[in-house]
Amino acid sequence: MITLETADDTRALGARIAALVRAGDLIVLDGPLGAGKTVFVQGLAAGLGTAGRVTSPTFVIARVHEGGRLPLVHVDAYRLGGLAEVDDLDLDTDLTESVVVVEWGAGLVEGLADAHLRVQLIRPEADTDGEARVAVLHPVGGDWEQRLSSANLAS
Ligand SMILES: Nc1ncnc2c1ncn2[C@@H]1O[C@H](COP(=O)(O)OP(=O)(O)O)[C@@H](O)[C@H]1O
Ligand SMILES: [Mg+2]
Repeated sequence: MITLETADDTRALGARIAALVRAGDLIVLDGPLGAGKTVFVQGLAAGLGTAGRVTSPTFVIARVHEGGRLPLVHVDAYRLGGLAEVDDLDLDTDLTESVVVVEWGAGLVEGLADAHLRVQLIRPEADTDGEARVAVLHPVGGDWEQRLSSANLAS
């Protein structure tokens, strides 16, 4: 468990994960509305060095952020039903050459890759409007566990 006192802490966690990602990686973001999923992606994008602002892609489903170490494909699966066929979104990008991060993706998009990192964001004080968040990182398959350990991010 990682405590994230402020939105900047959540961005900093995204940037630390950015240092670990490779082409073809899938990151699944889990947590309720306002948990900080988009804020996390802002940190991920900053860590990769992509240009441009990261906002919620809710109304466009997916956005590709170029210009960084790797292209970042930011998907909002909220509106995708069933197994989200991100491949069918006809993104102008090869997913195997990108990092794909999916908000609301838990239970939907895991099949896109052999392995993934699930980032669970919890808002313990949701009823009080408190700022603190808690992140739990779930490595699933591949060498995610080792990668997290090497970055001192293993739980
Ligand atoms: N510790 C924190 N981590 C992330 N966001 C925080 C934190 N504290 C406050 N916030 C605020 O909560 C909101 C999170 O929004 P957002 O990232 O869009 O959520 P989601 O994408 O999960 O629906 C932002 O307005 C952000 O500034
Ligand atoms: Mg969001």
